[in-house]
Amino acid sequence: MSVVPASEAAIATAGAAIRTGALVAFPTETVYGLGADATNGEAVARIFAAKGRPRFNPLIVHVAAIEDARTLARLSPLAERLASSFWPGPLTMVMPRKVTSGLSDLVTAGLDTVAIRMPAHPVARQLIAAAGRPLAAPSANRSGHVSPTLASHVAADLGERCAMILDAGPTRHGLESTVIGVDSDDVVLLRPGAITADDIAAVAGCDVRRALDANGKPVSPGQLASHYAPKAAVRLNVMRPRPGAGLIAFAGDVPPHDGPVINLSPEGNLVEAAAGLFAALRNLDAAGVSEIDVMPIPDVGLGEAINDRLRRAAAPR
Ligand code: TXA
Ligand code: MG
Repeated sequence: MSVVPASEAAIATAGAAIRTGALVAFPTETVYGLGADATNGEAVARIFAAKGRPRFNPLIVHVAAIEDARTLARLSPLAERLASSFWPGPLTMVMPRKVTSGLSDLVTAGLDTVAIRMPAHPVARQLIAAAGRPLAAPSANRSGHVSPTLASHVAADLGERCAMILDAGPTRHGLESTVIGVDSDDVVLLRPGAITADDIAAVAGCDVRRALDANGKPVSPGQLASHYAPKAAVRLNVMRPRPGAGLIAFAGDVPPHDGPVINLSPEGNLVEAAAGLFAALRNLDAAGVSEIDVMPIPDVGLGEAINDRLRRAAAPR
């Protein structure tokens, strides 16, 4: 395994490695991704093997330019409008896949749609350019575990499985991209994320539907109930933490507690809380607690995505 600072030379080497079918972990503005050439079936298969990811869970394809998105998928006028407002940035759009896309069928898990995003992080953009290929990239964690916001998180989960880990420090948003399904006049929220549903609705000029299955669960394939899970058990909406548990606090009124406490944002800022959430889960695991208690977090704006991740972290495994 090699964690290397994301210098220009390292990015060039990483791009060449991608072209040979290797896996490279790289920073995005959301979380670190585990990248492979999306047109190379063997390379994409390596991603599923490295993560232990079920093959029915499709991957996001990362592009550096809107023209590249248009060669892979059919963008409706609504999708074009959302792209011009939110790309580059943490929005993933699921759209009809073009038969001429050249993507490996594994990337889309056999679906006739493809999830595409244009990341804003300069290292991600330079890597896509250096590889000269669209990059299939899930979050660079073991399947079901907490997503990585630092290169060291990737090394701990997948170190031996990647040719290189490009290190550019902590990721800015700390939560994955928002995933939406877009057709000609409709937007469905498949995974809440770094861009809020309200932001998207304002640009789309229509409501963002919450797609739910018969059990009231989001329908994005592979959005398993248990996900983002630390080793410790997780309890939500806790006002009276159990002695010895780790406590994830939010805002000012923290109850007295005799175990480790991480306050995601003493000022009650949801952007700051999102950025620190996954590292807090990993750090409390590292502190050796067997339970993590989490104070209530308001379910507005970015809080929707934070609470989505917390519910999955707390779900029965
Ligand atoms: O911020 C992010 O999105 C990060 C960085 C690395 O870009 N990537 C990421 O990928 O979170 P991953 O694989 O952990 O999550 C991809 C999500 C999954 O919930 C998957 O089911 C959904 O996108 N997805 C991918 N293709 C889809 C499709 N064709 N239809 C519906 N959902 C899809
Ligand atoms: Mg993931």
